[in-house]
Amino acid sequence: ASTLGAQAARSGRYFGTAVAAGRLGDGTYTAILDREFNAVTPENEMKWDATERSRGSFSFAAADQIVSHAVAHGQRVRGHTLVWHSQLPGWVGSISDATTLRGVMRSHITTEMGHFKGKVYAWDVVNEAFADGGSGARRASVFQNVLGDGFIEDAFRTARSADSAAKLCYNDYNIENWSDAKTQAVYRMVRDFRSRGVPIDCVGFQSHFGSSGPPASFGTTLANFAALGVDVQITELDIAQAPATAYANTVKACMNVARCTGISVWGIRDSDSWRSGEHPLLFDAAGNKKAAYGAVLSAL
Ligand code: XIL
Repeated sequence: ASTLGAQAARSGRYFGTAVAAGRLGDGTYTAILDREFNAVTPENEMKWDATERSRGSFSFAAADQIVSHAVAHGQRVRGHTLVWHSQLPGWVGSISDATTLRGVMRSHITTEMGHFKGKVYAWDVVNEAFADGGSGARRASVFQNVLGDGFIEDAFRTARSADSAAKLCYNDYNIENWSDAKTQAVYRMVRDFRSRGVPIDCVGFQSHFGSSGPPASFGTTLANFAALGVDVQITELDIAQAPATAYANTVKACMNVARCTGISVWGIRDSDSWRSGEHPLLFDAAGNKKAAYGAVLSAL
């Protein structure tokens, strides 16, 4: 096939991108989006600071724009993200009472998932809950600090009740290298959830790589997580300088794992990227295909 989405679909996978609502009026952007991609992730529009700026007051207009566009163009939607320490409004961060925070978290999940019910294929229910470095510990956050380790399980159980058809994912970065303590800690959590029947269906590997691309063990990591009975997905791929080989290696790691169900890049053109100075994407600022594009298409 001659496009990323159509080629990925040949093996039952999707190829997606982060989308910003503010760019949907850019014809060059939407032409590439609708030609190449069969999945979208709202880049910022579903985050807590965008959807519940003050308690109980929800606004989904920007995310609705992206979801409507996706539905009209047959693109799957990854919901990103319900519970995250970042892009979190101050009013949530200042809650110190556990009962209050638990209620607020549950109501945020239930309301947002309810709003998009039937339109979201998979949700990043919890994002980036583990600390960097060798500790294997949870990251400090208002959720961790006030609710303790159980907040992740509570979030997933709440999410399942809100929309039993959506896939529920845990998403994180720096969990690509199998031997890293952070990878091992997430793996143990997923194994524990699966063994106790806590509802989790997928693990997202953000995959924000430096110019050398994925670690050599990335394929092993994907396979080991998949063996726990969850789908795995590459959710936010970008690679400094976009070397063709690094992109191809990333795609091959996914293609080698049957339960690796899709790959999303974190933006379309380099100029759309949160790392724009590193030119990490598949299209240049003018919308031309870069060398990495061809490498990805061949590896799919
Ligand atoms: C980034 C967006 O791309 C930026 O526009 C925003 O300013 C900050 O967040 N991990 C995630 C994504 O899960 O939500 C982040 O997206 C990148 C890192």
